[in-house]
Amino acid sequence: MVKTLVLRLDARQPDSHLIERAAAALREGGLVAFPTETVYGLGADATSAPAVSRIFAAKGRPASDPIIVHLYDLAQLEQIAVGVPSLAYDLARRFWPGPLTLVLRRGERIPPNVSAGLETVAVRMPDHPAALALFRAADLPVAAPSANRFARPSATTAAHVLEDLDGRIDVVLDGGPTVIGLESTVLDLTKPAPAVLRPGGITLEMLRAVIPDVALVSRHLQPDDAGIEAPGMLLKHYSPRAELLLFTGEPERVIPRMQAAVKDYLQAGQRVGILLPDEDADVFEGADVLVFRLGARENLAQLGANLFTGLRELDRRSADVILTRAVERSGLGVAIYDRLLRAAEGRIIAC
Ligand code: TXA
Ligand code: MG
Repeated sequence: MVKTLVLRLDARQPDSHLIERAAAALREGGLVAFPTETVYGLGADATSAPAVSRIFAAKGRPASDPIIVHLYDLAQLEQIAVGVPSLAYDLARRFWPGPLTLVLRRGERIPPNVSAGLETVAVRMPDHPAALALFRAADLPVAAPSANRFARPSATTAAHVLEDLDGRIDVVLDGGPTVIGLESTVLDLTKPAPAVLRPGGITLEMLRAVIPDVALVSRHLQPDDAGIEAPGMLLKHYSPRAELLLFTGEPERVIPRMQAAVKDYLQAGQRVGILLPDEDADVFEGADVLVFRLGARENLAQLGANLFTGLRELDRRSADVILTRAVERSGLGVAIYDRLLRAAEGRIIAC
């Protein structure tokens, strides 16, 4: 156990003394959680193999899962990656700082454990003043996965970070809730054709403006198919402790099916959580269930920003089962659907 130091700061104008304390911890090989525009990251010096191995230990993350390296200045890219294609610079100029991660060929300064032994490295520049100030003060590339215990929903507040990692990391920079609430888009540029490995804050539509034929190769998600190829192959990820059931189809069919399921679960003595857009959640108000309202149905940014908080909140309130429904699969909806699918671990109810 270490004593985790919590430093509260103004997200827009981070206090340079607090930033310097956190930067010193990074330089000494420590672990610092920090806010980004997507989710909180758990950072370590990306050039130090021992510091990076502490990330895996603190999260309980398997060594086979590679980590994103974060930078504050495009000039750092040359130290992190080699053979950077011009497309990477085009994308960086357009989308950085921002929620786009590029997979490139790993440079020698980045130890293999950052990338789980792969010859590639994932890189991004987050759009958050506190994160950028931290990296600049440490003057390091910073390896950082999401700041949650392995397979738990990502942390979108400092309280979520502490829920999972208090006593296991050195510092948490508390810059308030993150704006996007979903992780970055991961785009692989090391294959003959650029491919999105994880949908996120930069949508496929936005990428198509630069790469017209960009593919989504997510193992368990295609934008317009019925859902999953092989449910058994789903990675356990983003999971609340409760079982999540994902209902797909039009609301007119989904809501009655959910109401029937609620009745069955209540009769079986289970605590039922409902995670839905406001308009759908209204139907369940007054029933003997725990309701978490995600925001207006048409507002995908709001639904995305509240998703992980909702999963954690229903866990905290001891739901045994959480019923939710799929959102429209365009724009940010692709990333939301991806996270729901993974959290459901294959428990899909097509209505
Ligand atoms: O928004 C985000 O991306 C957040 C913030 C903190 O930056 N980070 C984040 O990290 O979500 P993490 O570790 O939870 O997810 C990183 C994703 C994983 O799906 C991992 O497999 C993929 O990026 N990844 C990392 N390095 C890779 C590589 N060399 N090749 C392919 N995929 C890689
Ligand atoms: Mg993660």
